[in-house]
Amino acid sequence: MAEDFGRWLDDFKSKINIVDVVGRYVPLNAKGGRMWACCPFHHEKTPSFCVSEDRNSYYCFGCHVGGDAINFVMEIEHTDFMGSLKILADMYGESIPEFSKSNNGEASRKQYKDRLYELMRATANYYHSNLMSEQGEKAREYWFSRGVDSGTITNFGLGYSLGYNQLVAYLRSLGYREKEMVDAGVVEFKDNKYFDALAGRVIVPIVNNLRQVVAFGGRVTQKDKLPKYKNTKETIIFDKSSELFGQNNVKKLQMQEKVSSIIMVEGYMDVIALYQAGIKNAMASMGTALTDKQAKLIKRYVDKVIICYDGDGAGKKATVRGLDILYKVGLDVNVMSLPEGLDPDEYIKKYGKESYMEMMMNALPLFEFKLKALAEEFDLENAEGKGKYAVEAMKVLKELGNPAQIEAYMPIVVELTGISKDILYQQYSQTEVPVKLQPKTIKRKASVYDEAVRYVLFALYGGVEDLKYHEDITAYLTNPYHIQLYDTLRVNGLDYLTLDDLAKMEDENPEVREILQAGSQVSDERAKAYFEDCINKIKKTSKTRKLEALSKAIDSEEDEEVRQLLYNQYVQLAKSNSKKQ
Ligand code: UTP
Ligand code: MN
Repeated sequence: MAEDFGRWLDDFKSKINIVDVVGRYVPLNAKGGRMWACCPFHHEKTPSFCVSEDRNSYYCFGCHVGGDAINFVMEIEHTDFMGSLKILADMYGESIPEFSKSNNGEASRKQYKDRLYELMRATANYYHSNLMSEQGEKAREYWFSRGVDSGTITNFGLGYSLGYNQLVAYLRSLGYREKEMVDAGVVEFKDNKYFDALAGRVIVPIVNNLRQVVAFGGRVTQKDKLPKYKNTKETIIFDKSSELFGQNNVKKLQMQEKVSSIIMVEGYMDVIALYQAGIKNAMASMGTALTDKQAKLIKRYVDKVIICYDGDGAGKKATVRGLDILYKVGLDVNVMSLPEGLDPDEYIKKYGKESYMEMMMNALPLFEFKLKALAEEFDLENAEGKGKYAVEAMKVLKELGNPAQIEAYMPIVVELTGISKDILYQQYSQTEVPVKLQPKTIKRKASVYDEAVRYVLFALYGGVEDLKYHEDITAYLTNPYHIQLYDTLRVNGLDYLTLDDLAKMEDENPEVREILQAGSQVSDERAKAYFEDCINKIKKTSKTRKLEALSKAIDSEEDEEVRQLLYNQYVQLAKSNSKKQ
């Protein structure tokens, strides 16, 4: 199965032309036998992003990213290996074969999804043109009355639904069947009639990271009608728990500048208002608590997230759970609270952008926020309240686990309670360990040895031809995953990795990321020398480790004969060590 897939992948990869693929995203100029562009992954004015058709790869001399067409699409579309492959397959009019199942079902399902995407796009255009039409005047007034200007209306493709029947008739006129409309979620069927699911509402399209319209949020323009927002139901193209409103904007922004953090807000209107004020890195989950999938998605964009939930909302228990989800995927989480129960949209209208930015600067790190929010549940004026708070606060710190961080946060509790640090630490040591909240991706400082191994794998993965013929270092590797990868790369180069390997690499093994980033500090000119350097380091460390192990074994060995044997090994190894270095 995997072999079939591997074969298909090899075949498909040979069809991919890197220049065509990259050219779809950035304009390329030919110079010196290669194609050049301004790098889409970092902000620059002169092109240092280079595409080589011969090698079917790209490389940026500015930010040292590089790889093949699949890597490029992964980076630029913020997707994983399979996601990238799907996009490329679409570009080349191929469908990815599913060797384990019957192929037909999969292909026609994909066709059907494409059909629904088209339908959604047509619907979005229709809603928008309705808003801009004569009949849309009142709805336009509504947006304007909320401070949304016409530029923003265009930018977000905001719209208006004229009523129950118009959309159905329009989509019919384009040749769509009612079943398709219902499957896309824009039309409902009741009392033997098909009608617009968001009839009479103003419309906010929800666009995914591939710029496809996947759903709509419809808002009433008058207060009396409930509910305030109605969203497209979940469909085969809309999984609410894995979408984030506004991510297409963030993605666009990322092409223009480095985006280092994302602001998470609650509502569509918050994203829209912030955007109009020039703060373009905001996203919203759609009225539900954040999910693990959304957290992982955010992590694909940035390492830092600033939560800005409505007024008092951030203190709610449900919200804190959402924050933990973000923390667990390894994001640096900060919380900003707005006063007077205002949401970001209202705040920015009342106090302006500058003031909002200032509040953002003062966002609290997650655990400081937790300690302070917790304090509000206790009466810290009296001794009993202080004591109870201290007990709960130590539970919060226990979640943190890391001693240096605990020490850093302790003064907050000291200040709030007046209880001494010593006593708090006593309390802390009596506190039971709760379910660990440690981020899964704890970054340990890599050893010199690990870094060297990673670079060697990176260089081989990059397919630099003359590096292929180096001394075999399998014997000096210890991590079975490294050994397996090294073996495959050394013998065959990247092209022969099976899909199974790659999918596993991406999803299950965070080590792959490390390997792919291992070359980021090494310039092309230094590559060869550095590679050899790494090989030497690996050999040296490996020998030192083996010597240490032997020495320990000798010390603890009681049988004199075996000890002599081990000792001989030790001497031999030590000699070879000094000779080669
Ligand atoms: P909010 O009420 O905070 O949204 O709800 P908002 O964007 O600030 O609303 P207005 O237009 O300024 O009054 C947060 C989010 O919860 C979802 C929507 O996604 C909304 O943006 N929601 C809210 C619903 O789905 N249905 C509702 O009835 C209310
Ligand atoms: Mn609002």
